Amino acid sequence: MSETITTYDDLLNMLDSLLREPTAFWNGFYEDREKGVPFFGNLPDENLVQYFDSELLGSGKVLELGCGPGRNAIYLAQKGCSVDAVDLSKEALEWGKERAAEKKVQVNFIQRNIFELEIEEGRYDFVYDSGCFHHIAPHRRINYLEMVKKALRPKGLYSITCFIEGGILGGADISDWEVYRQKSLKGGLGFTEEKLRMIFKEFEVVEIRKMRKKEESDETFGVQGLWTALFMKK
Ligand SMILES: C[S@@+](CC[C@H](N)C(=O)[O-])C[C@H]1O[C@@H](n2cnc3c(N)ncnc32)[C@H](O)[C@@H]1O
Repeated sequence: MSETITTYDDLLNMLDSLLREPTAFWNGFYEDREKGVPFFGNLPDENLVQYFDSELLGSGKVLELGCGPGRNAIYLAQKGCSVDAVDLSKEALEWGKERAAEKKVQVNFIQRNIFELEIEEGRYDFVYDSGCFHHIAPHRRINYLEMVKKALRPKGLYSITCFIEGGILGGADISDWEVYRQKSLKGGLGFTEEKLRMIFKEFEVVEIRKMRKKEESDETFGVQGLWTALFMKK
C-alpha cells in the first residue's frame, strides 16, 4: 500500500494502521462460545426491551451496527422488525444465523465493516448499536455519525449501549488524543454523560441512563458499567 497521503481516506487508513486490526481479533474472540462472556447469552438488552414496552419503538426497518451473535437483532425480528444486522466477524454471524434459525426468525446478517456499508438515505426507522461504538476509533467517529444520520429517516431513533468511563467493565478513561499516543483503545473507550451529549449533539436526547443490572435468571440482559442512550434524529 502506498504511504503517501493524498485523500481523507488515506489519512483514516494510516490512523487505522496505528491500532489493532479488528477482524482477526473479533473472529478469535468468538471462537470459544463457552468462555463465559456475559453478552454471549441470547438475551436482549434491558433498555431495548424497555423501548418496546413503553412504545417508544415499534415494528419498522432496523439497522444494527456490530450485532455480534445477534441476540438483539433476533429480539428485534421477534418484535416484527425487518432487521439488517452488520458485523465484521464471520464467526459471530455464523453463530447469529444458527440462533435465528433456532428461533425461526428472519434476520439479514451482513458480514462487513460498518464503514464499508452502502446505505440508502433515510431507509431505517431505528439504528441500534450495543457495544460497538466504544470500539470505534475517534478518527472514524465523524464517519460513524454521518452514517447513522444518513441511515435514519427524519425523527428516526438511534440507541447505543457503551462503556462508562472508568466503570467496572473497564471503559478506558483516556482522551481521544491519548488513543494515538498509546496506539490503543485500551479494550474500549469509556464515556461520561457529558461526552455523550457532546458527541451526539446533532441528535435530540430522548434518554441517557445507566444500564440496569439484571440477574442471570432474568429474560433481559443488564450489567453495571454501561450507559444506555436513546437519541432522535432532528
Ligand atoms: C462488544 S461486541 C458486541 C456484540 C453485540 N452487539 C452484543 O451486544 O451481543 C462488539 C461487536 O462489534 C463488532 N465490530 C467492531 N468494530 C466493527 C466494525 N468496524 N464493523 C463491524 N463490526 C464491528 C465486533 O465484531 C463485535 O461483534
